[in-house]
Amino acid sequence: MAGTGGTSGRAGVVGLGTMGAGIAEVLARGGWSVTGVEEQPDALTRAEGRIMASTAYAESRGKLAEGEGAAVRARLSYETSIDALADCDLVVEAVPELPELKQRVFARLDAVVGANALLATNTSSLSVTSLAASTSDPSRVVGLHFFNPAPVQPLVEVISTVLTSAGTLDRVREILAGLGKTTIACRDRAGFVVNGLLIGYLNSAATWYERGYATREEIDDALVSAGMPMGPLALLDLVGLDVTVAVLQRMYLQFGDRRYLPAPLLTSLVEAGLLGRKTGRGLYTYDGSTPTATTTGAPGVVPPPPASRAGELPEALLVPYLNDALTMVGVGYASPATVDTGMSLGCRMPPPFDQLAAIGPERALAVQRQVFDETADPGYRPALLLEQLAAADDPDLALHVLRRADR
Ligand code: 3HC
Repeated sequence: MAGTGGTSGRAGVVGLGTMGAGIAEVLARGGWSVTGVEEQPDALTRAEGRIMASTAYAESRGKLAEGEGAAVRARLSYETSIDALADCDLVVEAVPELPELKQRVFARLDAVVGANALLATNTSSLSVTSLAASTSDPSRVVGLHFFNPAPVQPLVEVISTVLTSAGTLDRVREILAGLGKTTIACRDRAGFVVNGLLIGYLNSAATWYERGYATREEIDDALVSAGMPMGPLALLDLVGLDVTVAVLQRMYLQFGDRRYLPAPLLTSLVEAGLLGRKTGRGLYTYDGSTPTATTTGAPGVVPPPPASRAGELPEALLVPYLNDALTMVGVGYASPATVDTGMSLGCRMPPPFDQLAAIGPERALAVQRQVFDETADPGYRPALLLEQLAAADDPDLALHVLRRADR
């Protein structure tokens, strides 16, 4: 593809875990010849199995025409060395979130690929800028943040650094459009847009569970009833507790907000190797991808005496998340439309500004004030924009105007 202006060519994906295998599948479904790389042959076999299952399921659901799954799989090849990626136009790195490992992969890619190749990282917790700066040509490096499951979620966050060239961004956007993905542009900041809102919400849900404020099922059911496609605890298991903890740690480091200190339960589960669906056990226990019908808590959880606060759900978890969205908009990191696109296309959640409109700014402010008073945590201070909306003569109209202003 390089230099031809087309939108398919040869791609490499390094690291074929849940995300890497999904990204490889997305590229192959978009017509790319894809080489997936894992050092261990058994990891390649697992990835091949995952892609087989996903493409077969896509066919069964009519997302791929009959027989197309085989054509997609034929465009994929599997290798154990990065050296096999020498003639790629685009390489996406999706190895585990370990800084030294990612640096090593980038150093190797930098030496192997041609001068016109684009390099991307799917990191959700590391600085794209520092990975880019460690290469000989940082202008061709971007973050491409896909969402799990990558073949299902239509969003990709495109993260540019201060070193990324405009030409690289144009090419990347063209490629993603060719893959049928919607993109939002993000500056390199911990969490980007989507995780910047999602991960604090997930951490709060884990804290609620750990403190015995509500059962696992009460928490998840309440949020599903509020329109979420899955409950936050089930979503934690889908995302992976290790990934969540890594993103939280980076957000805590960057923003200094103690709400981002991982709930101790999450840290314990990660230390125990119980990472969620990918290991068969996390906050829930899985038989395949289905949670088993157990009512026992996660291992090691001894909930305090019952002091149920389930009646405060879903607002107690939902409103702080919406407050974060207003803070993000207020500091100029993202517009309301970008936030809505991010959450609805990255996570299939209702657009946060629709949820805020449904609750109403005045009610949201009352709930947020209660949370802030109770916790005395500055991270829960009502967003200035929320205060302003609620103080307007017509708060609903003020919210409507805020949403329209950025179109
Ligand atoms: N290929 C293509 N399409 C597929 C597919 C595949 N392999 N698997 C499923 N689909 C489609 C189905 O056809 C269906 O489409 P439809 O809605 O048009 O009918 C849709 O995806 C849902 O599939 P299912 O009906 O089989 O499954 P569920 O309805 O149980 O949904 C789910 C499962 C897709 C996981 C859904 O619950 C969901 O989207 N949850 C939210 C997940 C989320 O938030 N992901 C982002 C996490 S954050 C992240 O990844 C970033 C990281 O850095 C932390």
